[in-house]
Amino acid sequence: MSIEEKDLPFDEKIIINKWSHKNMTIEDYKKLHEKTIANIEEFWSSIAKELDWFKPWDKPLVADPQPPFYKWFAGGKLNASYLTLDKHVASWRKNKVAYIWEGEPVDSKGNPTEVRRLTYYDLYREVNRLAYAMKTKLGLRKGDTITIYMPMIPELPIVMLAAARLGVIFSVVFSGFSATALADRINDAKSRVIFTADGFWRRGKQVRLKEVVDEAIKSAPSIEKVVVYRRLGINDVPMTQGRDQWWSDLLSDVPVNAYIEPEHVESEHPLYILYTSGTTGKPKGIVHDTGGYLTELHATMKWVFDIKDDDVYWCVADIGWVTGHSYIVFGPLLEGATIVMYEGAPDYPAPDRWWQIIERYGVNVYYTTPTAIRTFMKFGDEWISKHDLSTVRLMHSVGEPINPEAWRWAWKWIGRNEIPFGSTWWMTETGGILVSHVPGWGLIPLKPGTNGMPIPGVDADVVDDEGKSIQGKRGYLIIKKPWPGMPLTIWGDPSRFVNVYFSKFPGVFYAGDWAIKDDDGYIWVLGRADEVIKVAGHRLGTYEIESALISHKAVAEAAVVGVPDQVKGEVPVAFVVLRSGNAPSDELRKELRVWVRQVVGPIAEPSNIIFVSKLPKTRSGKIMRRLVRQVVMNQPLGDATTLEDETSIDEAKKAYDELRKEIGST
Ligand code: WTA
Repeated sequence: MSIEEKDLPFDEKIIINKWSHKNMTIEDYKKLHEKTIANIEEFWSSIAKELDWFKPWDKPLVADPQPPFYKWFAGGKLNASYLTLDKHVASWRKNKVAYIWEGEPVDSKGNPTEVRRLTYYDLYREVNRLAYAMKTKLGLRKGDTITIYMPMIPELPIVMLAAARLGVIFSVVFSGFSATALADRINDAKSRVIFTADGFWRRGKQVRLKEVVDEAIKSAPSIEKVVVYRRLGINDVPMTQGRDQWWSDLLSDVPVNAYIEPEHVESEHPLYILYTSGTTGKPKGIVHDTGGYLTELHATMKWVFDIKDDDVYWCVADIGWVTGHSYIVFGPLLEGATIVMYEGAPDYPAPDRWWQIIERYGVNVYYTTPTAIRTFMKFGDEWISKHDLSTVRLMHSVGEPINPEAWRWAWKWIGRNEIPFGSTWWMTETGGILVSHVPGWGLIPLKPGTNGMPIPGVDADVVDDEGKSIQGKRGYLIIKKPWPGMPLTIWGDPSRFVNVYFSKFPGVFYAGDWAIKDDDGYIWVLGRADEVIKVAGHRLGTYEIESALISHKAVAEAAVVGVPDQVKGEVPVAFVVLRSGNAPSDELRKELRVWVRQVVGPIAEPSNIIFVSKLPKTRSGKIMRRLVRQVVMNQPLGDATTLEDETSIDEAKKAYDELRKEIGST
């Protein structure tokens, strides 16, 4: 939900007294922060040294071949699987629980019927076995790419870690994406192997996955092998001989103590590709390196989450998104944490499932989302009030701006009005958290709704159209110096990397977010400044939904905009021009909504479809989405001088008003 400037309680500050960790004044933090950004190379080297390197780096930062392409810790060698597993197995953490996994199904009393606890040693063994099979049976080698399309089960991080052990570059595709979206991502990464499952549980129903993979492979010829994990145990899973293989068969003759030497990869070796939405064209494959990325995760796990060995840590994201990559897999495993992982829906079988989980495992550090909080607010206080959540000592949210009302509700009900609760800002591209209320070495005063301050070693600012630093006014969020979690590039498209992120303000990273820097230097991220929307925190390009609509035979043109929604933050609304010979109807509206679900995935389904005869365009034919959005929001149009045909706006307004009357919404 983008937040309006006028709604922000700029002067509110909350000091948390009952906090075991250090409190810091804004001034003290600023002084320390300035020192760190004065010499980022020295500062980040001091953090990177805390990881175990097979070979130390020669230089902390090298532009290669020129900015904005950088190698962090150039010349250094390490391995992500070694650092997250072998290191702990060689220590007292060997038999410490790494993952507590809870499946969705429950018995008649509402208790979970499937809970798995995997120690670091268990995980180490499974990862080694799989890496052994990947290498000896699937012929995977350093630099190969694979796609992972799996639900929230421990085998998902196991595949990621086994790939990392071999230096195989993996691309995880969110299991809610459609066959078309999956095929696009396989083709872009040119993956040889895909790992999937027969399905998973969601709201008491079995969701089948393998069939989606089969459909995707029809147009993804690079795939040679499909490995299927039996999560549900359904019998009629179609298997193609010679191509498809059950996970259990692949591993049946691999010894329990199989060991694969972790590949000593260069610091800049790509750990993974993660596709994310932008404004135009196909999704971008953001590439993260190994050494810089892990350094940033190590720092933020310590600073932002204050992670301790006796903590139970829970991040509610799906591993299909960056939050899961960084803060369910690599970050917490690097620190040897005990991590809760849950398969299913937050409200199944009742709206207190998440509170049960916190209570059952005694969660201490909790990473959540604004959409989830707003959903629970709607269910009513009775669901949360009956649970003892007093173990939670620190919490954060992520993914979209948090409105002060949702912040207060969560702080009261989960945080007992006494624990630190921040809204961490970051994005797929940044690798890890960059702005927080616990930025480093302590906690600064909380301001509900704000993101806090840039972490040490990160030079973030808010600028106007000319790139001039501004305070107290809305501007663009930028990052002025390289940071270790930055992307290496966009997979296969380095010039796009430069154009998208480093050309609006030459040489500095443009995040694409509106933000305000207030008088204390706190950052308030307000929402996207481009044609990207966040639906329940999930990032989508409006063009993806438009392309899906246009691929339907009845549709000539489409314009999609994000509009505020009380729970999901934003939802897509589509204006559609039909091809001649097609008439608007409720059936067609329904059909198009289903169509978008099928082409992109359920999260992309427009909440409304409005039929019009033309779209507002500039004289050069560009759709003016800003005007479309203003119509939907019932706002004054502002500058409409470049509009080619004013009647298009009148028509859109009329059509939208009629639809509103019909469905009775305001
Ligand atoms: C938005 C998710 C406000 C922002 C980690 C950003 C936020 C986009 C916050 C990236 C926050 C993320 N407050 N907005 N705490 N966190 N965003 O790539 O618009 O899925 O650009 O990464 O989410 O989304 P992505």
